[in-house]
Amino acid sequence: MLNINPVYTKSWNILLNHFNKIKKKDIFYFFNKDKNRFKNFSIFYKKLILFDFSKNLINNKTIKLFINFLNEINFKYYINGILKGKILNITEKKIISNFLLRDVDNYFIKNNYLNNKLLIEKKNIDKNLCKIKKITYEILNNIWLSFNNKKIFNIVNIGIGGSDLGPRMIVKSLYLYKKKNINSFFVSNLDINDINSVLNLISPENTIFIVCSKSFTTQETLLNFKIARDWILKFYNNNILSLNKHFILVTSNLNNSLKYNIIRNNIILVNDWVGGRYSFCSAFGLSISLSIGFKNFVKILKGCHDLDKHFFFTKYNKNIPILLSLISIWYNNFFCYTNELVMVYNESMFLFPYYLQQLVMESNGKCIDKNNDLINYNTSPILFGGLGTISQHSFFQLLHQGTNVIPCDFIIESNFKNNNNKYNSYYKLFSNLIAQSQCLAFGDNIFLNIKKNNFSKFKNIKGNKPNNIFLIKKINPYTLGTLISIYEYKVFTQGIIWNICSYDQWGVNLGKNLSNFVYKLYFKNKNIKKNRYFLDNSSLSLIKIFKNFNK
Ligand code: F6P
Repeated sequence: MLNINPVYTKSWNILLNHFNKIKKKDIFYFFNKDKNRFKNFSIFYKKLILFDFSKNLINNKTIKLFINFLNEINFKYYINGILKGKILNITEKKIISNFLLRDVDNYFIKNNYLNNKLLIEKKNIDKNLCKIKKITYEILNNIWLSFNNKKIFNIVNIGIGGSDLGPRMIVKSLYLYKKKNINSFFVSNLDINDINSVLNLISPENTIFIVCSKSFTTQETLLNFKIARDWILKFYNNNILSLNKHFILVTSNLNNSLKYNIIRNNIILVNDWVGGRYSFCSAFGLSISLSIGFKNFVKILKGCHDLDKHFFFTKYNKNIPILLSLISIWYNNFFCYTNELVMVYNESMFLFPYYLQQLVMESNGKCIDKNNDLINYNTSPILFGGLGTISQHSFFQLLHQGTNVIPCDFIIESNFKNNNNKYNSYYKLFSNLIAQSQCLAFGDNIFLNIKKNNFSKFKNIKGNKPNNIFLIKKINPYTLGTLISIYEYKVFTQGIIWNICSYDQWGVNLGKNLSNFVYKLYFKNKNIKKNRYFLDNSSLSLIKIFKNFNK
């Protein structure tokens, strides 16, 4: 059966019975029951990323019953749908074959997986990859010079959402791989201080702007593009030809992007089915390539590509994204723990949770299912994140003694031998992660034979808070691409289980349109028909006070 309400399936109800039987068991119990708990509930992916899912409120039967559920909803159909280019983004009538973006070795062509439709899509992808390679080579080797023949070493990515978060997170995470003579900047906010804080640091003659917008209608991006454009034109006395040395546009909307006097050769057209939050592997990742070099950009793609194959071809009980999504569904839909935390313990990865928020909540923050029915179960949990150990001094109190149970994914790089220092800071960092994971899982019981009687209740740490650990041997382009793809397919799997479309974002359109309406009506005094709009006196009063403040 396809596109079915999960709670009406036989296997979901068997899972519910199983849940009622084991819900009172604690994590301690599962470890005591299985001396090989870690071995049986961890996967060491290519000896590069260890996924430890042993500190969870599950046993082998839980996984087995979830796999029965995946078989009942015919999950394999959807994996094949990706490979065959089926219209799985049903509300926008688009495919979701992102695996094509990272198949740099043409594995799927060589093994005859691609039908004609996907072969055509792959042609444009390959063309764009060549374009990224060429632009990267020309700028990094001072072949592409400024309009007044100066070297370009400032790269400014202008975009927002998926046109910013992926590239920004990746460039920051891979700061060790950044080209020495290149400065990378990211501008996304409508607040002019965002772009001004960057323009004040750089010189027009050494700067290129990568303007990223799928639709080329996003007000934040278009405003920042206009500010940057005026900044360059002012420097070159309004010589419009200067723009072609200082702007590259990346979009899926050619007509809109052609309105800005940028030559067609500087416009990279991305396949229109590539969703914003899945687009860092496409030409929207140009600023990544310019920051860390094309070869390293390709290594990211290879990391994603190998994980694609892992996801497509690995049996469910050894499939990392599938296990990660089943565990998450177990808490979100059975325990009703509707928050999720992603804790990164490496400073460079601080944007990773922020990136995941769009990937997870813009994909699965839905309440209407594929049959156009209102959903009667939880969909996406609220995902937030933090940087360890800093967060241990801010919100970890709630994790340990709050009334909300918040399942957590811990992520840390483990190979510090070339970074070790006499302060042993990396060992201390890792010891904190282990300690937090144990406290959450086992609470006070972690210290055996402590006399409970001298414990006041308010000091008690109950534990039994589930958590996963990703131990990454070394954060590099390949492993970062792998990690991102694990979460991409977690989102995919959950979307299929929740019977929702994970690839549209209709919920953001009203706010976008309304903000333009408010601006025109109240600040441009356009004579828009006011009777078409609810004039609540809160908003009216706020606008009046705002205007008074700015008189
Ligand atoms: O937040 C809505 C959204 O459409 C995202 O899905 C997208 O990544 C972002 O805005 C930017 O859109 P665009 O790339 O079209 O400028």
